[in-house]
Parts: sequence; structure tokens; C-alpha cells
Amino acid sequence: FEVMWDASAAEKGGWSSFMAKEVAEEPEAVANTILGRVKDGQVVIPELDGMDELFAGVQRIIIVACGTASYAGQVGKYAIEQWARIPVDVELAHEFRYRDPIVGPETLVVSISQSGETMDTLMAVKEAARLGAKTLSICNTQGATIPRESDAIVYTHAGPEVAVASTKAFVAQITALYLLALHVGRIRGTVSPAEAARSIHELEALPEKIRWILENEQEHIEQLAHWMADTRSVLFLGRHVGFPIALEGALKLKELSYIHAEGFAAGELKHGPIALIEPGQPVFVMVPSPRGAATLHAKVVSNIEEIRARGARVIAIAEEGDVAVLPFADEVLRIPLAGPIFEPILAVVPLHIFAMGLANAKGLDVDQPRNLAKSVTVE
Ligand code: G6P
Repeated sequence: FEVMWDASAAEKGGWSSFMAKEVAEEPEAVANTILGRVKDGQVVIPELDGMDELFAGVQRIIIVACGTASYAGQVGKYAIEQWARIPVDVELAHEFRYRDPIVGPETLVVSISQSGETMDTLMAVKEAARLGAKTLSICNTQGATIPRESDAIVYTHAGPEVAVASTKAFVAQITALYLLALHVGRIRGTVSPAEAARSIHELEALPEKIRWILENEQEHIEQLAHWMADTRSVLFLGRHVGFPIALEGALKLKELSYIHAEGFAAGELKHGPIALIEPGQPVFVMVPSPRGAATLHAKVVSNIEEIRARGARVIAIAEEGDVAVLPFADEVLRIPLAGPIFEPILAVVPLHIFAMGLANAKGLDVDQPRNLAKSVTVE
């Protein structure tokens, strides 16, 4: 008699893959990243104690990162500019490093890395420091090289991420960037206490809303992925904070399913990508909340009409109750209501589930996609 014991299955705690487990942990990743960073209705990040003067004086922020982390950075740009009123540029770390960037003591370089070991990102941080910039690391791995090389650290508390494609770390990175934006906005007096309190309330409500998606939409999305198992190409459209989410949706699909996937800014459609639309082409569209900037919502709905008129198969990610998309969408994946800037943390969840579902439907290894490594420690 022999007991079969599989260490990796045990670590997966009953889940079919690490990725399935990690997507299910997205609510906790957000909640744990907020934990201990709200005091008397304000965001106070204890790790940034003693840096008020730096934040008060900084004139520019450059975010450097690679892959999924760079899309978190692109989302974070909106929050930092909105709440802290500091201009933000987001750059791929390897591009930043080799272009002789104009950076000095008035610049804060924020790196984002799940592993904290990505060589491209590490070299960008070192270059920034050499040029006299202050460096802040947003990292998920305690004691990793990038945080050790940085002047300040804000850890994401997503817990260990094993699957090569990043999921729960991504939502935690956006959360950390929002907290940073509110922390710095408080110091600079650019965010009112009332808006800060409202935003914290929104942030704290996100884990429950992600859970709602997992409970109510996951099966539907997996079914859709199953039907689409033979798809050769998928496009993703988004606008404003939905744009980087479109890029993330496309990246996840490339990484896991090995099919052509591309994300576009919805407003750019008419400047080129619409030429790609032919009958049957699946297009995921991130629909901004109709309760936010009305023009944004209307513009994206009109994009949907345009691609639908050319035969696209539209899969809309839209908030509950948005009926404007119904006449034009073949599928609607629902997300709960949230303030417009908070939507990315919800809208990405169906995309993570879809990419995983499609790879599963094709019988691929979702934890270890071909040719990829979890942490790329070479340039
Ligand atoms: C690798 C992984 C990606 C990840 C990127 C950045 O390319 O395959 O999933 O987004 O590195 O990783 P980091 O650890 O720096 O966030």
C-alpha cells in the first residue's frame, strides 16, 4: 500500500492550477495591500514615514516596469495625476535605461515588479539612482533585489505568485499605486479629505466586488472561452483607464493561449485598427461606466456600433445595469458598479478568467506557458 502524495498538488490546495488559485485570491490581494495603510479615514503608508518633504517637492514621476507590471503603472498614472497632481510618465524599463533619460533630483522613479528581480527593471532603477533621482519600489517579494536597491519600498501583499502569468499581483500593484497617489495627495494637499475618504471607501469595497465577479460570472466566462477555443485572433479595446486593461487582456491571452491578441485605445480605432475588423472577429471592449464621464461612455458605445457594423463579434465588459451596450454586444460580461477610476481592478478579472479558460480549453499548461519565465533575470 502506497500513499500517492504530490507536493505541487498539495500546494495548489485543491485548485486545478496555481493560476486558478491565484485568480481566486485576487480579492485578498487587494484587501491585504490596503491593510494597515488607512488611518483616521486617510491613507498613511507607514513605510513612507519621513518622506513627506520629498513628496511635497517632487516635480515629476517616472514609472518603470516590464510586462503586466507596466500596465499596472499605466493605470496608476491616472490616479497619481488625479490625486497628487504630479505629471507621470510610464516607461518600459528597458527603453528607459537606453535612451539617456533626462532625470534628476526632482524626479521620483517608481519601479513596479512582482518578483523584484527583473533585470531590465533593476537596471533602470540603478540608472535612475546614478542620475540623482529618488527611487521607490512597488514589489511583491520581501527582500528582493529591486526594493533593496531603492530609497523607499511599498510592498504589495498579494502573497506568493507561482503561475508565470501575473494575476493577483497585478490587482495588488494597482491598489498600491492608488494608495501611493492618495498618500502623496494628502501630503501635497491636492486631494480633499472628503474625496480621500470616498476613495478609500471605494478601494475597501473592491475585494467584495471581485468576489461577486468570481461567483457570478466565472462560469459564464469559462463557457465563452470554451466556445472560442479555436479562435485565431482576439482584439481588445479600452479607453482612459480601460486602455491599459485592454493591453493586459491581450498580453494574458498571448502568454497563455499562444494566439494573436492585441489591445488598442478605442479612440485609435479609426486611425488604423478598424481595418482589421472582418466578420466574426472577436473584440473585447472595456465599456466605461455611464455614471462617469458621459462622453467617454458614449464614445465607446459608438466604437462598438462601428465594429459591429463591420461584423465584429463584440464581448462587452460593462457595469451591471448598463443597457446601452445590449443592442450591439454578442456577450456582456458584468462587473459591479464602482467609481470610474476603480473599474480597472474589476474589469481585468474577467480577462484573467478568459485567458485562463481559453488555455484550459486548448489543453495548455496555464502555469508554465512555453518560452516564458516567471522572473527574467537577464537583460
Ligand atoms: C516576466 C513574466 C511576466 C511579468 C514580467 C515582469 O516577463 O513572464 O508575467 O509581467 O516578467 O515581472 P515582474 O516580476 O518584474 O513584475
